[in-house]
Amino acid sequence: MSHIPVLLNEVVSYLKVKPGGIYIDCTVGGGGHSEAILEQSSPGGFLFGIDKDQSALDLANQRLREKFEGRYRFFHGDYKDFQQLIDLDKKGDIHGVVADLGVSSMQLSAPERGFSFQKDGPLDMRMDLSRPVKASDLVNDLPVRELADLIRTYGEERYANQIARAIVRAREESPILTTAGLAGIIKENVPPAYRYGRIHPATRTFQAIRIAVNRELESLSEFIKNIFQYLAPGGRLAVISFHSLEDRIVKRTFLSLIQKKKKDPDFQWTKKPVCPSEEEVESNPASRSAKLRVIERRL
Ligand SMILES: C[S@@+](CC[C@H](N)C(=O)[O-])C[C@H]1O[C@@H](n2cnc3c(N)ncnc32)[C@H](O)[C@@H]1O
Repeated sequence: MSHIPVLLNEVVSYLKVKPGGIYIDCTVGGGGHSEAILEQSSPGGFLFGIDKDQSALDLANQRLREKFEGRYRFFHGDYKDFQQLIDLDKKGDIHGVVADLGVSSMQLSAPERGFSFQKDGPLDMRMDLSRPVKASDLVNDLPVRELADLIRTYGEERYANQIARAIVRAREESPILTTAGLAGIIKENVPPAYRYGRIHPATRTFQAIRIAVNRELESLSEFIKNIFQYLAPGGRLAVISFHSLEDRIVKRTFLSLIQKKKKDPDFQWTKKPVCPSEEEVESNPASRSAKLRVIERRL
């Protein structure tokens, strides 16, 4: 399954992508945002792309190679390490940066990657297959208290204690190694109203474990502050988040950057997040929880 880029026109227009500009796509995924930026920045624009999933970079490369040869370079790694990966000459050279956080449809729809409770597969959830810790390691090794805290904090799951205790009971019988196995344990151990509620009862726990495996919230704020220093005057950073924990960090970090610049009346940012239109949500339901925030560097 290919990934449909979210808020594509909005990202390109908020970033004011221009011919000859230099851009960074921190989360290449299927390459949808990269492609649109390369189109809009031609002739002469250049794009640095990062993803911690090598298979995403390979696919995106196939998509872009013919048309944009020589105008982009991809790096395998964590966007938090962009300084080491890209080896930028100096600060103030980048015209726009996009970070479209979270998982791609390619990752979610591949049972062997273990991200989805809807498809049975190994309990993996690593975006970067070269990292050692899988979801099954956390689920089978963490003490009950840490497991409950993780599920509560990263999943905002009200039945976190109940679910953690059920996981520990089950793993005493045999290790939990599959997505269907974990989803089944959760389903059997939450109240019936929750079991048959609006969302699948495993949704929040799966989100929590995925965030922990991929350390998705660690250093997000530091990354935003760092990459902001590399923007040229007038350059913009666009971040798309998919859940409230991420959005809160993005919003607070933007605010802290703005407060430093209080004396500058022209300093701009999107006070309210930009959300997908009804038409976009209808044609791509995966976009429904997306929130785009943009900040501009003035000087
Ligand atoms: C939502 S998808 C991006 C989709 C992309 N914008 C497109 O148009 O196809 C998120 C991608 O970011 C990658 N990713 C998530 N966190 C990352 C991180 N900290 N460093 C590098 N890549 C990351 C994931 O592997 C995934 O491929």
